[in-house]
Amino acid sequence: MTPRSMLAAAACALAAHAAAKAEDALDLKIRNGWAVAVQQDGAVAQRSNKTSYPKVTTSDAAQAWTYAGAGEWTSGFFAANLWLLHGQFSADGWSTQAQTWQNGMEGQDTNTGTHDVGFMVFTPFGNAYRLTGVDSYRQVALTAANSLSQRYNGTVGAVRSWGSIGDNANFQVIMDNMMNLELLFWASRHGGSTALYDRARSHALKTRDNHVRADGSSYHLVTYDPVTGAVKSRTTVQGYSDSSTWARGQAWGIHGFTMAYRFTGETTFRDTARKMADWYLAHLPADAVPYWDFDDPAIPNAPRDTSAAAIAASGLIELSLLETDSARATTYRNAARTALNALLSAPWFATLGLPSNSQALLLQSAYNHHAGNTLYNQGTAWGDYYLLEAMQRWRRVDPGLAALPVAAVSATSAQAGNPAANAIDNSLATRWSAEGDGQAITLDLGSGRAIQKVGVAFYLGDQRSARFDIATSPDGNGWTTRWRGISSGQTTAEEYYDITDVTARYVRITGHGSTASQWNSITELSVH
Ligand code: GLY
Repeated sequence: MTPRSMLAAAACALAAHAAAKAEDALDLKIRNGWAVAVQQDGAVAQRSNKTSYPKVTTSDAAQAWTYAGAGEWTSGFFAANLWLLHGQFSADGWSTQAQTWQNGMEGQDTNTGTHDVGFMVFTPFGNAYRLTGVDSYRQVALTAANSLSQRYNGTVGAVRSWGSIGDNANFQVIMDNMMNLELLFWASRHGGSTALYDRARSHALKTRDNHVRADGSSYHLVTYDPVTGAVKSRTTVQGYSDSSTWARGQAWGIHGFTMAYRFTGETTFRDTARKMADWYLAHLPADAVPYWDFDDPAIPNAPRDTSAAAIAASGLIELSLLETDSARATTYRNAARTALNALLSAPWFATLGLPSNSQALLLQSAYNHHAGNTLYNQGTAWGDYYLLEAMQRWRRVDPGLAALPVAAVSATSAQAGNPAANAIDNSLATRWSAEGDGQAITLDLGSGRAIQKVGVAFYLGDQRSARFDIATSPDGNGWTTRWRGISSGQTTAEEYYDITDVTARYVRITGHGSTASQWNSITELSVH
């Protein structure tokens, strides 16, 4: 898709939004968010130099990207954004763009000089593998996991964030490193050794013990003695002071401990995520966007960090989905909703339509305001990425809309024992299955009904991503495609695909196989 056609598609989408006033406000904002991402990232993707990568924007009126090489911790986010766009709009050439942008980063998989290979390599290549199943992407991520694992010190019980492996004086670990553990946990399930899991788990336990304060706030940097494993100091590098709480560190912790709970199922990680989330939410300003550091005495005249809000929102969505306590699940879901509503609106979000006021999506992030550093009021590659991740994760949140009754279901074909009726029997244990590109299942609602979302749950939906279209028809003859993309590959539960509100009698899902096979296997379908 060319930038011009991307822009035209975005403009059409916006015109449709205007006509559909009854829609949920956040659904509209998320759809607009994707449209702006199509415009902004689509334009940057045309840049001829694809071996330096958007990092932060200037903080002047131009808000133009500044670029950094493959070895910078931020290098993977732009390609990862393009992969998320591929997941959302699979047919529009985004995977080609994403591949081109990540090619120059492949060599980072052997980088043992930083903990950031998690951000740099797993963010693009992990998404690439999740959405395509291409094995070479898995191999790159596995190599990176083995590189990161070399930074583990068994005496400390953690992965070294900064400094060289042989430094016997100081072993520095920052809260941010919680995020890089996902590479290790993931690798242990995708062909890597169990030691990767054990090391990630140990690191998370150490971080729980030494970075997280009793009240749920957090230190940025803990320095250990690499020989004895003892804590030498608790300080900050990017926060206001050693005893303050740096907003992004707190957000990395919420996201990271939630992820550790997802992989391990250990309640101590859920409890740590809760504690950090509760502290964060209790200290947020009313507009849901944190100041760069919660303890800057200049508040309310201190810079904000929208990237911290995006990271936290994405973590809170996942925490709400994993929560075992329904009241907490509601609290975290509502907090994420409030955050997304804020972040996707002025003054935090770029406006659609040229000239935009920023090349980034999310405005007013703060890379570093420590000790007079003036890196704030800027877009950041990671702020945009975690915002898109949160928008994608929002699909997994129950829309709270009643499912419409289905009068009849039919399919182009079905595997013996897995008929179409299994997709509407309210059981995730049964499925409709048909092999081959273009196999379809159609729901007849009996009469024209107002439709806002379509729920689809896939068999083995947490192990493979399914490619499919959603189309509607008033009469079963003329069909309009309403959504085309890829399931998250992260859940066996229903994901709710937002479509522009439409009145239709028929809803059809056309499958294009998955990352693992040409089978289309749906355990449950619902229309809301
Ligand atoms: N991981 C570096 C930062 O959050 O700025």
